Amino acid sequence: MIQTSDFSFSPEETERIATPEQIPQDGDMDVSLRPKSLTDYIGQDQVKQNLAVYIEAARRRGEPLDHVLLYGPPGLGKTTLSGIIAYEMGVNLRVTSGPAIEKPGDLAALLTNLGSGDVLFVDEIHRLSRAVEEILYPALEDRVLDIVIGKGPAARSIRVDLQPFTLVGATTRAGQLTPPLRDRFGIVQRLELYTPEQLCDIIRRSAMILDIPCEIDGAMELAKRSRGTPRIANRLLKRVRDFADVMGNGIIDAQMTKLALERLEIDELGLDKLDKRMLDMMIRGYHGGPVGLETLASAIGEESVTLEDVCEPYLMQLGMIARTPRGRCATQLAYEHMGYPIETQTMSRQYSLQDMLKSDDESADT
Ligand code: ADE
Repeated sequence: MIQTSDFSFSPEETERIATPEQIPQDGDMDVSLRPKSLTDYIGQDQVKQNLAVYIEAARRRGEPLDHVLLYGPPGLGKTTLSGIIAYEMGVNLRVTSGPAIEKPGDLAALLTNLGSGDVLFVDEIHRLSRAVEEILYPALEDRVLDIVIGKGPAARSIRVDLQPFTLVGATTRAGQLTPPLRDRFGIVQRLELYTPEQLCDIIRRSAMILDIPCEIDGAMELAKRSRGTPRIANRLLKRVRDFADVMGNGIIDAQMTKLALERLEIDELGLDKLDKRMLDMMIRGYHGGPVGLETLASAIGEESVTLEDVCEPYLMQLGMIARTPRGRCATQLAYEHMGYPIETQTMSRQYSLQDMLKSDDESADT
Protein backbone atom coordinates (compact mmCIF):
# COMPACT_ATOMS: atom_id res chain seq x y z
CA MET A 1 0.00 0.00 0.00
CA ILE A 2 1.44 3.38 -0.97
CA GLN A 3 0.73 5.98 1.67
CA THR A 4 2.36 9.32 0.94
CA SER A 5 4.16 11.17 -1.78
CA ASP A 6 5.90 14.56 -1.73
CA PHE A 7 7.15 16.23 -4.89
CA SER A 8 7.83 19.80 -5.87
CA PHE A 9 8.09 21.13 -9.40
CA SER A 10 9.94 24.02 -10.96
CA PRO A 11 8.06 26.07 -13.59
CA GLU A 12 10.63 25.05 -16.19
CA GLU A 13 9.96 21.35 -15.56
CA THR A 14 6.25 21.78 -16.05
CA GLU A 15 6.94 23.07 -19.56
CA ARG A 16 9.14 20.30 -20.90
CA ILE A 17 7.17 17.31 -22.08
CA ALA A 18 10.42 15.39 -22.55
CA THR A 19 11.65 15.90 -19.00
CA PRO A 20 12.31 12.64 -17.17
CA GLU A 21 11.35 14.30 -13.84
CA GLN A 22 7.81 13.80 -12.61
CA ILE A 23 5.52 16.70 -13.58
CA PRO A 24 2.03 17.55 -12.29
CA GLN A 25 0.43 16.62 -15.63
CA ASP A 26 1.53 13.02 -15.05
CA GLY A 27 -1.15 12.81 -12.35
CA ASP A 28 -1.50 9.26 -11.17
CA MET A 29 -0.47 7.91 -14.59
CA ASP A 30 2.74 6.56 -13.14
CA VAL A 31 0.79 4.67 -10.51
CA SER A 32 -1.70 3.00 -12.85
CA LEU A 33 1.04 1.87 -15.25
CA ARG A 34 3.47 0.70 -12.62
CA PRO A 35 4.19 -3.03 -12.72
CA LYS A 36 3.48 -4.66 -9.35
CA SER A 37 5.75 -7.69 -9.50
CA LEU A 38 9.26 -8.42 -10.76
CA THR A 39 7.89 -10.59 -13.58
CA ASP A 40 5.84 -7.65 -14.92
CA TYR A 41 8.83 -5.32 -14.81
CA ILE A 42 10.50 -4.90 -18.20
CA GLY A 43 14.24 -4.23 -18.58
CA GLN A 44 16.99 -3.64 -15.96
CA ASP A 45 17.61 -7.40 -16.22
CA GLN A 46 20.68 -7.54 -14.01
CA VAL A 47 19.03 -5.50 -11.24
CA LYS A 48 15.93 -7.67 -11.46
CA GLN A 49 17.89 -10.92 -11.30
CA ASN A 50 19.90 -9.77 -8.31
CA LEU A 51 16.89 -8.43 -6.43
CA ALA A 52 15.00 -11.70 -7.05
CA VAL A 53 17.80 -13.59 -5.30
CA TYR A 54 18.09 -11.17 -2.37
CA ILE A 55 14.31 -11.11 -1.87
CA GLU A 56 14.00 -14.90 -2.00
CA ALA A 57 16.91 -15.30 0.44
CA ALA A 58 15.42 -12.79 2.90
CA ARG A 59 12.00 -14.45 2.67
CA ARG A 60 13.45 -17.90 3.33
CA ARG A 61 15.26 -16.58 6.39
CA GLY A 62 12.16 -14.73 7.54
CA GLU A 63 14.15 -11.51 7.72
CA PRO A 64 13.54 -8.08 6.21
CA LEU A 65 15.49 -7.33 3.05
CA ASP A 66 18.78 -5.51 3.58
CA HIS A 67 18.65 -1.74 2.96
CA VAL A 68 18.70 -0.96 -0.78
CA LEU A 69 20.17 2.04 -2.63
CA LEU A 70 18.89 2.59 -6.19
CA TYR A 71 20.67 5.18 -8.27
CA GLY A 72 20.58 6.43 -11.83
CA PRO A 73 18.88 9.07 -14.00
CA PRO A 74 15.29 10.14 -13.17
CA GLY A 75 12.22 8.42 -14.62
CA LEU A 76 13.70 4.91 -14.86
CA GLY A 77 11.53 3.25 -12.21
CA LYS A 78 13.19 3.65 -8.81
CA THR A 79 9.85 4.25 -7.06
CA THR A 80 8.31 1.40 -9.06
CA LEU A 81 11.05 -0.96 -7.95
CA SER A 82 10.55 -0.03 -4.31
CA GLY A 83 6.85 -0.91 -4.70
CA ILE A 84 7.85 -4.22 -6.26
CA ILE A 85 10.25 -4.96 -3.42
CA ALA A 86 7.44 -4.36 -0.89
CA TYR A 87 5.00 -6.47 -2.95
CA GLU A 88 7.42 -9.37 -3.34
CA MET A 89 8.30 -9.26 0.37
CA GLY A 90 4.58 -9.10 1.25
CA VAL A 91 4.89 -5.89 3.30
CA ASN A 92 3.63 -2.30 3.19
CA LEU A 93 5.38 0.53 1.37
CA ARG A 94 5.69 4.03 2.75
CA VAL A 95 6.88 6.70 0.28
CA THR A 96 8.58 9.98 1.11
CA SER A 97 11.52 12.09 -0.05
CA GLY A 98 14.69 13.62 1.38
CA PRO A 99 13.48 17.25 1.26
CA ALA A 100 10.11 16.29 2.81
CA ILE A 101 11.80 15.01 5.97
CA GLU A 102 12.65 18.40 7.42
CA LYS A 103 13.32 17.60 11.08
CA PRO A 104 14.60 14.58 13.00
CA GLY A 105 11.11 14.36 14.51
CA ASP A 106 9.61 13.84 11.01
CA LEU A 107 11.84 10.83 10.45
CA ALA A 108 11.14 9.53 13.95
CA ALA A 109 7.39 9.69 13.23
CA LEU A 110 7.84 7.78 9.95
CA LEU A 111 10.05 5.10 11.45
CA THR A 112 7.97 4.47 14.57
CA ASN A 113 4.86 4.01 12.41
CA LEU A 114 6.38 1.26 10.24
CA GLY A 115 5.09 -2.29 10.67
CA SER A 116 7.43 -5.26 10.94
CA GLY A 117 9.42 -5.71 7.71
CA ASP A 118 7.85 -2.68 6.01
CA VAL A 119 9.67 -0.77 3.26
CA LEU A 120 10.38 2.94 3.68
CA PHE A 121 11.16 4.54 0.31
CA VAL A 122 13.08 7.80 0.46
CA ASP A 123 13.39 9.50 -2.93
CA GLU A 124 16.21 12.04 -3.43
CA ILE A 125 17.92 10.63 -0.38
CA HIS A 126 21.01 12.77 -1.09
CA ARG A 127 18.93 15.77 0.04
CA LEU A 128 18.44 14.60 3.64
CA SER A 129 19.68 17.17 6.15
CA ARG A 130 22.67 16.31 8.32
CA ALA A 131 20.54 16.32 11.49
CA VAL A 132 18.10 13.83 9.96
CA GLU A 133 20.90 11.68 8.60
CA GLU A 134 22.47 11.41 12.05
CA ILE A 135 19.40 9.82 13.59
CA LEU A 136 19.01 7.55 10.58
CA TYR A 137 22.36 5.80 11.19
CA PRO A 138 21.44 3.94 14.42
CA ALA A 139 17.99 3.24 12.95
CA LEU A 140 19.59 1.49 9.96
CA GLU A 141 22.27 -0.31 11.88
CA ASP A 142 20.73 -1.26 15.21
CA ARG A 143 16.99 -0.55 14.67
CA VAL A 144 16.96 2.03 17.43
CA LEU A 145 16.20 5.73 17.57
CA ASP A 146 18.11 7.97 19.93
CA ILE A 147 15.80 10.87 20.60
CA VAL A 148 17.02 13.93 22.50
CA ILE A 149 14.40 15.48 24.76
CA GLY A 150 14.81 19.03 26.05
CA LYS A 151 17.66 21.49 25.59
CA GLY A 152 20.86 22.53 27.36
CA PRO A 153 22.02 20.83 30.57
CA ALA A 154 18.57 19.33 31.17
CA ALA A 155 18.57 17.56 27.79
CA ARG A 156 18.49 13.78 27.92
CA SER A 157 18.43 11.07 25.34
CA ILE A 158 15.95 8.23 25.22
CA ARG A 159 16.31 5.13 23.11
CA VAL A 160 13.31 3.74 21.20
CA ASP A 161 13.36 0.28 19.64
CA LEU A 162 12.09 0.03 16.07
CA GLN A 163 10.46 -2.79 14.16
CA PRO A 164 12.72 -4.45 11.58
CA PHE A 165 12.38 -2.51 8.31
CA THR A 166 13.99 -1.97 4.92
CA LEU A 167 15.06 1.44 3.74
CA VAL A 168 15.02 1.85 -0.04
CA GLY A 169 16.89 5.04 -0.91
CA ALA A 170 16.82 6.52 -4.41
CA THR A 171 19.09 9.14 -5.87
CA THR A 172 20.16 10.51 -9.20
CA ARG A 173 23.52 11.39 -7.68
CA ALA A 174 25.12 8.61 -5.69
CA GLY A 175 28.30 10.67 -5.50
CA GLN A 176 26.54 13.23 -3.31
CA LEU A 177 25.68 10.71 -0.60
CA THR A 178 27.84 10.98 2.49
CA PRO A 179 30.10 7.92 2.84
CA PRO A 180 28.59 6.87 6.21
CA LEU A 181 25.10 6.81 4.68
CA ARG A 182 26.25 5.04 1.51
CA ASP A 183 28.03 2.39 3.57
CA ARG A 184 24.84 1.45 5.41
CA PHE A 185 23.15 0.11 2.28
CA GLY A 186 23.82 -3.61 1.87
CA ILE A 187 22.40 -3.64 -1.67
CA VAL A 188 23.41 -0.98 -4.18
CA GLN A 189 21.99 -1.11 -7.71
CA ARG A 190 22.43 1.24 -10.63
CA LEU A 191 19.55 1.66 -13.10
CA GLU A 192 20.47 2.21 -16.76
CA LEU A 193 18.61 3.95 -19.57
CA TYR A 194 16.35 1.49 -21.43
CA THR A 195 16.95 0.29 -24.98
CA PRO A 196 14.34 1.22 -27.64
CA GLU A 197 13.27 -2.46 -27.75
CA GLN A 198 12.59 -2.51 -24.00
CA LEU A 199 10.76 0.81 -24.19
CA CYS A 200 8.68 -0.56 -27.07
CA ASP A 201 7.56 -3.43 -24.82
CA ILE A 202 6.75 -0.97 -22.01
CA ILE A 203 4.72 1.23 -24.38
CA ARG A 204 2.75 -1.76 -25.69
CA ARG A 205 2.04 -2.89 -22.13
CA SER A 206 0.90 0.63 -21.15
CA ALA A 207 -1.24 0.95 -24.30
CA MET A 208 -2.96 -2.30 -23.37
CA ILE A 209 -3.65 -1.14 -19.79
CA LEU A 210 -4.96 2.24 -21.02
CA ASP A 211 -6.90 0.60 -23.85
CA ILE A 212 -5.10 2.60 -26.55
CA PRO A 213 -4.89 0.96 -30.01
CA CYS A 214 -1.17 1.01 -30.78
CA GLU A 215 0.61 -0.78 -33.62
CA ILE A 216 4.13 -2.15 -33.20
CA ASP A 217 5.66 0.35 -35.63
CA GLY A 218 4.00 3.19 -33.71
CA ALA A 219 5.28 1.88 -30.38
CA MET A 220 8.79 1.49 -31.79
CA GLU A 221 8.80 4.98 -33.27
CA LEU A 222 7.73 6.37 -29.89
CA ALA A 223 10.29 4.20 -28.10
CA LYS A 224 13.13 5.63 -30.20
CA ARG A 225 12.12 9.14 -29.19
CA SER A 226 11.64 8.57 -25.46
CA ARG A 227 15.24 9.11 -24.30
CA GLY A 228 15.57 5.66 -22.77
CA THR A 229 13.04 6.66 -20.09
CA PRO A 230 9.71 4.87 -19.37
CA ARG A 231 8.19 7.95 -17.71
CA ILE A 232 8.72 9.95 -20.91
CA ALA A 233 7.48 7.07 -23.08
CA ASN A 234 4.25 6.77 -21.09
CA ARG A 235 3.68 10.54 -21.08
CA LEU A 236 4.24 10.80 -24.83
CA LEU A 237 1.96 7.81 -25.44
CA LYS A 238 -0.93 9.78 -23.97
CA ARG A 239 -0.17 12.86 -26.05
CA VAL A 240 0.16 10.84 -29.26
CA ARG A 241 -3.20 9.26 -28.47
CA ASP A 242 -4.73 12.77 -28.45
CA PHE A 243 -3.38 13.41 -31.95
CA ALA A 244 -4.50 9.97 -33.14
CA ASP A 245 -8.02 10.58 -31.79
CA VAL A 246 -8.40 14.07 -33.24
CA MET A 247 -6.35 13.95 -36.43
CA GLY A 248 -6.45 10.25 -37.32
CA ASN A 249 -8.52 7.14 -36.78
CA GLY A 250 -7.59 6.71 -33.11
CA ILE A 251 -4.87 4.17 -33.88
CA ILE A 252 -1.27 4.96 -33.04
CA ASP A 253 1.01 3.96 -35.90
CA ALA A 254 4.45 5.20 -36.97
CA GLN A 255 3.05 7.96 -39.18
CA MET A 256 0.79 9.35 -36.45
CA THR A 257 3.64 9.18 -33.91
CA LYS A 258 5.92 11.14 -36.23
CA LEU A 259 3.28 13.78 -36.82
CA ALA A 260 2.50 14.17 -33.11
CA LEU A 261 6.11 14.36 -32.00
CA GLU A 262 6.93 16.88 -34.69
CA ARG A 263 4.20 19.05 -33.19
CA LEU A 264 5.68 18.50 -29.73
CA GLU A 265 9.11 19.54 -31.08
CA ILE A 266 10.74 16.23 -30.27
CA ASP A 267 13.01 15.04 -33.04
CA GLU A 268 13.56 11.54 -34.44
CA LEU A 269 16.16 10.75 -31.76
CA GLY A 270 14.09 12.19 -28.90
CA LEU A 271 16.04 15.45 -28.57
CA ASP A 272 14.01 18.49 -27.57
CA LYS A 273 14.71 22.21 -27.54
CA LEU A 274 16.91 22.11 -24.44
CA ASP A 275 19.17 19.34 -25.78
CA LYS A 276 19.51 21.27 -29.00
CA ARG A 277 20.31 24.52 -27.22
CA MET A 278 23.02 22.70 -25.33
CA LEU A 279 24.54 21.11 -28.45
CA ASP A 280 24.20 24.34 -30.38
CA MET A 281 26.06 26.30 -27.71
CA MET A 282 28.80 23.68 -27.53
CA ILE A 283 29.29 23.69 -31.28
CA ARG A 284 28.76 27.34 -32.19
CA GLY A 285 29.79 28.97 -28.92
CA TYR A 286 32.75 26.77 -27.98
CA HIS A 287 33.89 25.13 -31.25
CA GLY A 288 32.57 21.79 -30.01
CA GLY A 289 34.37 22.02 -26.66
CA PRO A 290 35.94 21.10 -24.40
CA VAL A 291 33.70 23.28 -22.26
CA GLY A 292 32.96 22.98 -18.55
CA LEU A 293 29.45 22.15 -17.45
CA GLU A 294 28.99 25.29 -15.34
CA THR A 295 30.20 27.49 -18.18
CA LEU A 296 27.82 25.82 -20.57
CA ALA A 297 24.90 26.06 -18.13
CA SER A 298 25.33 29.78 -17.58
CA ALA A 299 25.81 30.38 -21.31
CA ILE A 300 22.39 28.90 -22.07
CA GLY A 301 20.73 30.11 -18.87
CA GLU A 302 19.94 26.67 -17.49
CA GLU A 303 20.80 24.98 -14.21
CA SER A 304 23.88 22.79 -14.43
CA VAL A 305 22.09 19.95 -12.57
CA THR A 306 19.44 19.86 -15.30
CA LEU A 307 22.10 19.58 -17.98
CA GLU A 308 23.99 16.96 -16.00
CA ASP A 309 21.04 14.81 -14.86
CA VAL A 310 18.62 15.24 -17.74
CA CYS A 311 20.38 16.13 -21.02
CA GLU A 312 23.79 14.62 -20.58
CA PRO A 313 23.00 10.95 -19.79
CA TYR A 314 20.93 10.64 -22.95
CA LEU A 315 23.26 12.64 -25.18
CA MET A 316 26.13 10.50 -23.93
CA GLN A 317 24.19 7.30 -24.59
CA LEU A 318 23.58 8.51 -28.14
CA GLY A 319 27.29 9.26 -28.47
CA MET A 320 26.77 12.99 -29.11
CA ILE A 321 28.67 14.20 -26.07
CA ALA A 322 31.95 12.95 -24.69
CA ARG A 323 33.31 13.77 -21.23
CA THR A 324 36.99 14.57 -21.27
CA PRO A 325 39.14 15.78 -18.36
CA ARG A 326 38.99 19.32 -19.76
CA GLY A 327 35.20 19.41 -20.10
CA ARG A 328 32.41 18.25 -22.39
CA CYS A 329 32.90 17.87 -26.15
CA ALA A 330 30.37 17.56 -28.95
CA THR A 331 31.18 14.52 -31.12
CA GLN A 332 31.07 14.16 -34.88
CA LEU A 333 27.61 12.63 -34.50
CA ALA A 334 26.39 15.79 -32.76
CA TYR A 335 27.71 17.97 -35.58
CA GLU A 336 26.00 15.74 -38.14
CA HIS A 337 22.72 15.64 -36.24
CA MET A 338 22.68 19.41 -35.76
CA GLY A 339 23.55 19.92 -39.43
CA TYR A 340 26.88 21.69 -38.89
CA PRO A 341 30.07 21.02 -40.88
CA ILE A 342 32.73 19.35 -38.78
CA GLU A 343 35.63 21.50 -37.59
CA THR A 344 38.42 19.00 -38.20
CA GLN A 345 40.99 20.98 -36.24
CA THR A 346 38.73 21.19 -33.20
CA MET A 347 37.76 17.54 -33.33
CA SER A 348 41.35 16.34 -33.35
CA ARG A 349 42.18 18.74 -30.50
CA GLN A 350 39.36 17.29 -28.41
CA TYR A 351 40.61 13.74 -28.42
CA SER A 352 44.32 13.98 -27.84
CA LEU A 353 45.84 10.80 -26.44
CA GLN A 354 46.72 12.63 -23.26
CA ASP A 355 43.05 13.46 -22.67
CA MET A 356 42.03 9.87 -23.10
CA LEU A 357 44.61 8.64 -20.63
CA LYS A 358 43.48 10.95 -17.85
CA SER A 359 40.56 9.88 -15.69
CA ASP A 360 37.10 11.36 -15.95
CA ASP A 361 37.19 12.57 -12.34
CA GLU A 362 39.73 15.24 -13.21
CA SER A 363 37.18 16.94 -15.46
CA ALA A 364 37.35 20.69 -15.49
CA ASP A 365 34.40 22.47 -13.98
CA THR A 366 32.25 19.38 -13.61
N1 ADE B 1 6.12 1.14 -16.70
C1 ADE B 1 7.08 1.96 -16.34
N2 ADE B 1 8.24 1.32 -16.20
C2 ADE B 1 8.02 0.02 -16.50
C3 ADE B 1 8.84 -1.13 -16.57
N3 ADE B 1 10.15 -1.09 -16.32
N4 ADE B 1 8.26 -2.28 -16.91
C4 ADE B 1 6.96 -2.33 -17.17
N5 ADE B 1 6.15 -1.27 -17.14
C5 ADE B 1 6.67 -0.09 -16.82
